[in-house]
Amino acid sequence: MDRAEPSAGATPAAIAPELSAALGRRADESGFLRFDRFMEVALYGDRVGYYAGPAPPFGPEGDFYTAPRVSPLFGRTIAAHLATLREELGKERPFSIVELGAGDGTLADSILASLPEGDRGGLEYILVERSPTLARLALERASHAADGRDVSVRLAPSLGEIGPFRGAVVANEVLDAQPARRLRWTGSGYEELGVRLEGDRLVADVRSDAGPIPGPALPSTREPGQIVEISPMAEALVRETADHLVQGVALFLDYGLEEPALLRGHPGGTLAAVRGHRFVDAPLSRPGATDLSTFVNFTRVREVARRAGLEERAFRPQAEALGDWGFPRWLEEAQGRAPSAEERVRLQLAAKNLLFGFERFRVLELATPPGLADEPRPT
Ligand SMILES: C[S@@+](CC[C@H](N)C(=O)[O-])C[C@H]1O[C@@H](n2cnc3c(N)ncnc32)[C@H](O)[C@@H]1O
Repeated sequence: MDRAEPSAGATPAAIAPELSAALGRRADESGFLRFDRFMEVALYGDRVGYYAGPAPPFGPEGDFYTAPRVSPLFGRTIAAHLATLREELGKERPFSIVELGAGDGTLADSILASLPEGDRGGLEYILVERSPTLARLALERASHAADGRDVSVRLAPSLGEIGPFRGAVVANEVLDAQPARRLRWTGSGYEELGVRLEGDRLVADVRSDAGPIPGPALPSTREPGQIVEISPMAEALVRETADHLVQGVALFLDYGLEEPALLRGHPGGTLAAVRGHRFVDAPLSRPGATDLSTFVNFTRVREVARRAGLEERAFRPQAEALGDWGFPRWLEEAQGRAPSAEERVRLQLAAKNLLFGFERFRVLELATPPGLADEPRPT
C-alpha cells in the first residue's frame, strides 16, 4: 500500500511477556535495542513477530493491501514482461522465476495463471518467503495455479539456498519490510536510535549511550535532528540477488525515494506503522500486531547493486513500468472477457488504483551484465 507521513511516537507501550522476553534476549544491559534489531523481532520473531502470526496480514480482514491484491492485472502485466525477458534469454533454456517475499502467493497465482501457453516448458517458480504461515499458503496457491501446466513450483528458504540460477527475481514490497536502522544527526555526528525495554514497557526513540557512531558513508547535507534510515538487510538482499542470479533480471517493486528527496521531505524519517488499513500515530504502541516499514532508500540500493555487478535496465515510477509492459492491452483483454458491465467497472476501478494509487512506488530493474557465462557458475 502507499504510505502517508509517519511519526515515531514516544509513548511507552505495555507489551506481551513473550515479546518482551524475545526483545530482552537481544537488548544490552541497559535494555537498549538498536531499531533494526527491534524491528527484526517485531516483524519476524518466532511466534511473536507480525509476520509469524497464524493469519495473513493482507486483504480486507488484514491490515493492508499490496498491488497484487488490487487486481490480477498487476501479475498479468509482470508475467508479460517476464515472458519477454525469457525470450531475450532464449526460450528453449531453463528459466526460474524466483519470487522473493512471496507473501500468501497472490502474485504467484496471477503470474502463473497468465504465462502464455508456449512459455511454460522448462519453467520453475520458486517461492522464497520468511513467514512459515505465508510460505505454506503461497506454496498451496502457486501449486494450484500451476496444476496441469508444465511448470514446477517449490519453496526455498532463502535466495542463497537456491544456488546459481538463470531467470528472474521478482520482489514486490519486500525491501520496505526489511529491518532498518534509524540514525539521528546531532550536528557533529550520528547517534543510533532504538528502543528501551523498561520491565514490560517499551520506550520509543531512545538513543544509544554508546556515543556517536562512525556511520557507513552517511549523507553530509543534514540539519540537526534529521533522521536517516538505512537497511543493511535490504541492501544484503540485493547483494544476495547479485550473487546467485547468474543470468537474467531482478525486479524490485517498492515505495521509496532517492536519498536527497528522503532527507528533504522526511526530516523525521519514514517509519510507518499500519493496522486495520490505517496509519498508527504511535508506531510502537502494539509491536507484533502492527506492520512496520520504512521507505526504500533507492540511492543506497542502486549503489549496492552497481557495486555487486548488476546493471540498471530501468528505474522509474511503477505506473510507467506497468504501461511499458503492456498494461492497457491486458486491461482491454480482461474487459473483453468480463461477463458483465459490473465486472468491467470493477476492472476499470482496479486499473485506476494500480496506476494512480501507488504513487510513491518505483520499479528498479537490474540485469546481469551481457556476456556472463551462459551456464550457471558453480557455487
Ligand atoms: C509487505 S509483504 C509483501 C508480500 C507480497 N510480496 C505482496 O506483494 O503481497 C513482505 C513479505 O516479504 C516477506 N519477507 C521479508 N523478508 C524476507 C526475506 N528475507 N526472505 C523471504 N521473505 C521475506 C515477509 O514475510 C512478507 O511476506
